[in-house]
Amino acid sequence: MKIQSLSYVLIETTDLQEWANYAQNVVGLMKNESLSDENNLYLRMDEKSFRFHISTGEAKRYVAAGFDLNDQESFEQAKIELSEANVSFKNFTDEMTQARQVTDGISLQDPAGNALEISYGALDDKEPFLSPQDIKGFITKGLGFGHVVFAAPDLEVAHSFYINVLGFGDSDYMNFPMGPAPDAPEVKLNFMHCNNPRHHTVALYESPIPPSGLIHTMVEVNDIDEVGRGLDRAMQNNVHISSSLGRHSNDMMVSFYMQTPSGFDLEFGYDGWQVDWSTFTKQESKMPSFWGHAFSPPEN
Ligand SMILES: [Fe+2]
Repeated sequence: MKIQSLSYVLIETTDLQEWANYAQNVVGLMKNESLSDENNLYLRMDEKSFRFHISTGEAKRYVAAGFDLNDQESFEQAKIELSEANVSFKNFTDEMTQARQVTDGISLQDPAGNALEISYGALDDKEPFLSPQDIKGFITKGLGFGHVVFAAPDLEVAHSFYINVLGFGDSDYMNFPMGPAPDAPEVKLNFMHCNNPRHHTVALYESPIPPSGLIHTMVEVNDIDEVGRGLDRAMQNNVHISSSLGRHSNDMMVSFYMQTPSGFDLEFGYDGWQVDWSTFTKQESKMPSFWGHAFSPPEN
């Protein structure tokens, strides 16, 4: 199947107002007033009806990542391929297609248990995108939302699922020691792309699934000043900075990481590599960043 891009991320929280403040005052996302209600917060970052859907629930956690296909034909083909690979999936109910603002979709899980959705026909909003923080725009055109990094206790099995069943391509394999100690444990990550130039849309990190359900997700802005202003807003709003500014060695992204109200991190960056896959050869990296990206987990 030919997945076009990451389309949206679904998130649960016990405190919707906390997410509304974070999304609008720190990230600079636009609330979709007509879709949102007291238990649902729909957030826009471009022409699409929404890119983040936060709903009130029992926990603060990641719920699912939505990927989009071009059309109905690709959708029917995707379902055939999943059935042939003995991967079970559930068809969206009418309520779900309405909530996701798509024509039709399915929900499934990867072998590690990460919840995914695949759909087509995502609607645009009638109103133009306007960031409450005057961000000129998020980089999504032809590239999708950004990327997600999932935990996978069995990296090989999960990796094979994305490559052989969902049709992703390998971008990079990263293996580096966690910290300076000579016996520091190895960190292993697979980075994969779908049918667009973004260097990676999904990465898998060899680890147990964290309580928040997700390692991180990433949004991309236009220039370094937008990243700097984002960092200022995060600090002014007492958001935990999970990683200092740095430049990644594989997708060249200049970014910092901050903790979202649902516990996982949001990478906020710019200058991500847009790859021509026809001339690309798969990378293997021994370090995550050229400079920066000093990680500091929250103290609590
Ligand atoms: Fe990332």
